[in-house]
Amino acid sequence: MTDNTIDWSEDRGVVTLTIADPGQSVNTMNAAFAASFDVALARLAAIGDALTGVVITSGKKTFFAGGDLRDLLEVDADNAAQFTAFLESIKRQLRTLETLGVPVVAAINGSALGGGLELALACHHRIALDDPHIRIGLPEVTLGLLPGAGGVVRTVRLLGLDTALDRVLLPGTAYRPADALQLGLIDDIATDTAALRAAARAWILAHRDARQCWDDGDAVPGGRADDPSVATTLPTRAATLRARHHGAPMPAAAAILSAAVESTVVDVETALAVETRYFVQLATGQIAKNIIQGTFFDRQTVRSGASRPRGFMPPHRADSVAVLGAGMMGAGIALSAALAGITVKLKDVDCPRAERGKAYAARVLAKRVAAGKHSQAEADAILERICATDDVADLAGCDLVIEAVFEDPELKGQVFREVLDAVAPDALLASNTSTLPITGLARSVDRPADFIGLHFFSPVERMDLVEIVVGEQTSEATLAKAFDIVLQLGKTPIVVGDGRGFFTSRVILARLLEAAAMLGEGIAPASIEQASLQAGYPVGTLALLDELTLTLPHKIYGQFRDEARTTDAQFVEHPGDAVLATMIEDANRPGRSAGAGFYDYADGRRVRLWAGLNERFGPGRPGHDLSELIDRLLIAEALETARCLESGLLRSTADANVGSLLGIGFPLWTGGAAQFIAGYPGGLAAFGARSRQLAEEFGPRFTPPASLVSWPTEPVGVN
Ligand code: NAI
Repeated sequence: MTDNTIDWSEDRGVVTLTIADPGQSVNTMNAAFAASFDVALARLAAIGDALTGVVITSGKKTFFAGGDLRDLLEVDADNAAQFTAFLESIKRQLRTLETLGVPVVAAINGSALGGGLELALACHHRIALDDPHIRIGLPEVTLGLLPGAGGVVRTVRLLGLDTALDRVLLPGTAYRPADALQLGLIDDIATDTAALRAAARAWILAHRDARQCWDDGDAVPGGRADDPSVATTLPTRAATLRARHHGAPMPAAAAILSAAVESTVVDVETALAVETRYFVQLATGQIAKNIIQGTFFDRQTVRSGASRPRGFMPPHRADSVAVLGAGMMGAGIALSAALAGITVKLKDVDCPRAERGKAYAARVLAKRVAAGKHSQAEADAILERICATDDVADLAGCDLVIEAVFEDPELKGQVFREVLDAVAPDALLASNTSTLPITGLARSVDRPADFIGLHFFSPVERMDLVEIVVGEQTSEATLAKAFDIVLQLGKTPIVVGDGRGFFTSRVILARLLEAAAMLGEGIAPASIEQASLQAGYPVGTLALLDELTLTLPHKIYGQFRDEARTTDAQFVEHPGDAVLATMIEDANRPGRSAGAGFYDYADGRRVRLWAGLNERFGPGRPGHDLSELIDRLLIAEALETARCLESGLLRSTADANVGSLLGIGFPLWTGGAAQFIAGYPGGLAAFGARSRQLAEEFGPRFTPPASLVSWPTEPVGVN
């Protein structure tokens, strides 16, 4: 017996089915729902002529959440047939619902994302509560999937191929009710629950012979894919999609396009079967599993505090923060804190500089007001929280200090000493240093146990990740506090040790140097950029080097070299660094900020790859293939991640995945740098073998660490 998940009530011929899974906080398309839905549908059919209509609504905060992602991770080739049968049974139920012969209305009283909207699409009319927290859409593509419960078929038949693909299925946008209404995803909006109920009943009484448009002639708005006017656009559509993804793996988008197009040239039943086939292909594939693991489960693990020390409850909250340094990072940190409701004292050496930092916040807020994200009054209140100052006395009582002055250990020590007497005696002391060891910086204060690294990413108000760096003397209580503060800021904290470059800088350095090394081998720079994009990185690696400025990785690598030489007798120089040195010292092209790097720039805009690269580093090494370049970039970063896990610098694979996805643009399809190894085609042995092959050809930097033999195929955490 499964628990009933659907409550039944009847009022003068109109039956309301209220979905409320007693076993979970949200309604999902699980076995209990399927069983309850079967019972409800049979009972509806048995009423016969006395049935006037049906309202579907939810007894939970959200309307309906869709498929259970845990179930999806378990789907593989062995149980695909069973999974397909389950999906088909749900689809049959939804078809039964929409062909009952009476009007069915979805009264959407909470978010309807994914399966929730698919259920609503199988109703004849959709009315949503006008609540700013409600979201409506089909976000499956963002998890490497497609809407497999009729979402592709029904949106295409409802809105036409272009709108369904470009506004709903391919972007996966979660719309507010008013926007969903404008788009045609829903039909009406109600101001409150009573109005929602009344509107649903009124619609039923006024539309006794309601039918789905696809059961009424089956025309597709805008035309079927075999209409000549549509058919001629399809090759461009496919090419545009490929171009948008730069050739990186994107099975979900490709499957959505195919399923949508094919669905238009067959009847509804066949279309639903086509959709199922594509869905099962994606669900049994590795890429959807990677993305679900990295972006959903690992993110949940990280945010739920797997790397936060136990205890130290209740969670800490900061009231007022002293941000030292109002430059690029300080200004962004100040804005993020103000957005989270924290009072900010933004201090710089003089008032004009401090005000410049606050002006940055004002500019970003103005843009947000223009985009409708805040009202003017909200933006004013947020800005009001930031006080720009050059006076230490203004920092009195702050319970958090975040330092973001120049990257100079002496200066950083000095600014902490300056403010210690003014701020609260137990204020958390944090540095946003990107490269300096936290343990060393902590020595400049008299309470190093309260000192920690909070490494933000630029632009701070848009980047979700914060790397929390634990120094040798940082206490567990301080780590717990810092973790809570990062969550309070609305960001995602990963916890890392105090090794050189921490986690993210160290891993990205491996990719930057690898790309530079390729250039040194004479590989065409355009091929390196193409390999980067085809691997799934957001920008070419040489372009990224220019953005960061070549001197930065060159300097960090120098620090690694100095450190390694004292401990590692076998130290082998990375050939990429010599290329950076040539670019900086001989060619005087350190990057975009100087107007010249691997690329030429005009008015700050990237124009083309520098023609001199060929002369300096060419002629091209013949016979290289792009897949080898792709492997080198990805594997270089994955191996560095494995070393971070082996050394304990990282505490969990979840931190590794979330950090690499959010912080350094590791390709989404991999699920993160650790999941890339766990999900490598052919398994760990194949990953190890490929690494060793690369090591033979390119050097010991590709030798896999010993721990890879026992690498976890399941996620590992600390607690
Ligand atoms: P920036 O040069 O834009 O700003 C530094 C600010 O500190 C300047 O406004 C300067 O006037 C101020 N300052 C200098 N001495 C001061 C003092 N005694 N008291 C108060 N303010 C003082 O530098 P940016 O880029 O904001 O970097 C700041 C820190 O953040 C550095 O440690 C950097 O390594 C780190 N970081 C930078 C990232 C980036 O993408 N730029 C990313 C993550 C960390």
